[in-house]
Amino acid sequence: MSLILGIESSCDETAVAVVEDGQRVRTSAVASQIAKHAPHGGVVPELAAREHLSALRPVLNEALTGAGITLNEVDAVAVTQGPGLMPALLVGLNFAKGLALNSRKPLIGINHFLAHIYGAFLESDLTELSAAATYPLLALVVSGGHTSLLLVDATGRAVTLGSTIDDAAGEALDKGAKLLGLGYPGGPVLQRTAEGGDAGRFHFPRPLTGGAGKALAPEQRYQFSFSGVKTALLYHLRNHDGEIAGDWLRDTAASYQEAVVDVLVTKTLAAVREFGVKTLVAAGGVACNAVLRRRLEALTPSGVRLRLAAPRFCTDNAAMVAGLGWHFHRRGEYSSLNLDSFARLPRISRVPFIG
Ligand code: KG4
Ligand code: ZN
Repeated sequence: MSLILGIESSCDETAVAVVEDGQRVRTSAVASQIAKHAPHGGVVPELAAREHLSALRPVLNEALTGAGITLNEVDAVAVTQGPGLMPALLVGLNFAKGLALNSRKPLIGINHFLAHIYGAFLESDLTELSAAATYPLLALVVSGGHTSLLLVDATGRAVTLGSTIDDAAGEALDKGAKLLGLGYPGGPVLQRTAEGGDAGRFHFPRPLTGGAGKALAPEQRYQFSFSGVKTALLYHLRNHDGEIAGDWLRDTAASYQEAVVDVLVTKTLAAVREFGVKTLVAAGGVACNAVLRRRLEALTPSGVRLRLAAPRFCTDNAAMVAGLGWHFHRRGEYSSLNLDSFARLPRISRVPFIG
């Protein structure tokens, strides 16, 4: 049995987790900084870094106590290397290096984007990952920073079918909520505001879905674009001379959320059909969204296994980091103490949890 300590600090949650054999989550401690960033309407990188610095030690203690272990008992320290906010990432990475050095444990640098996908496999039977029948696997990663479709074969080779060319889906929800004066983070508050609303009352565009008589170029088939939806909301607000409240607000929130979900589901299911996908994974903060989850559950074809990451492993957490870290540990692949953070997502050609 191996225990991996995971550390996550790429954005506005400070998280530490202990995961057993890439699977069983002993503890997943998360300290959210939302209240600190909310007055600014978004995450302020330097403020995030400062908060991580003061939160990491207590969150580490909480995780170790919760797991009933000491640092000596972990087999390796896995840490988010990127992508994310550079000042925030550096705090977690340097903290992890200090722990690894002091306790003489190996260090493992983890790609946050791939960790999100792995979040869908925590607390499940990992034999699924080595079964040929699981592939091709398609992962929809939707968060505040990412909107991508990644296709993975049984050997672990991966290709990005498409990503957003402007805003991420979570960003579109966050910005939309801000325009509506709903606060930060926008995804959850927009979802709550939209409850019971009429999602068909207002029409918002579905960019790059080939609607409105515009044929899609082949490379646009799996690309996403959300900035036009946000602009449409801005005009919708300008053209409205009443109060931003009541039914109007509820129906606007529902219609806006519906446009974002519709684009995500349409493109994902087109890829499922085109590539004969056997397993569909949805992960990242936006995969918490109840409308998106319900729609995927209803529309995923029978014969395709749908794996929705559990909500607590959708938004940023360190269990996904520790879980993925175990796959490096079992192969003895460790990082050097010179490990550097990176801000942007590199091209993904393999996933580390197969083989
Ligand atoms: O994965 P995550 O915690 O951080 C990033 O890696 O970006 O995702 C945060 C994003 C935010 O944009 C937030 O608004 C969105 O996930 N989100 C949601 C919901 N919960 C969080 N979006 C829609 N519905 C939700 N229930
Ligand atoms: Zn994330």
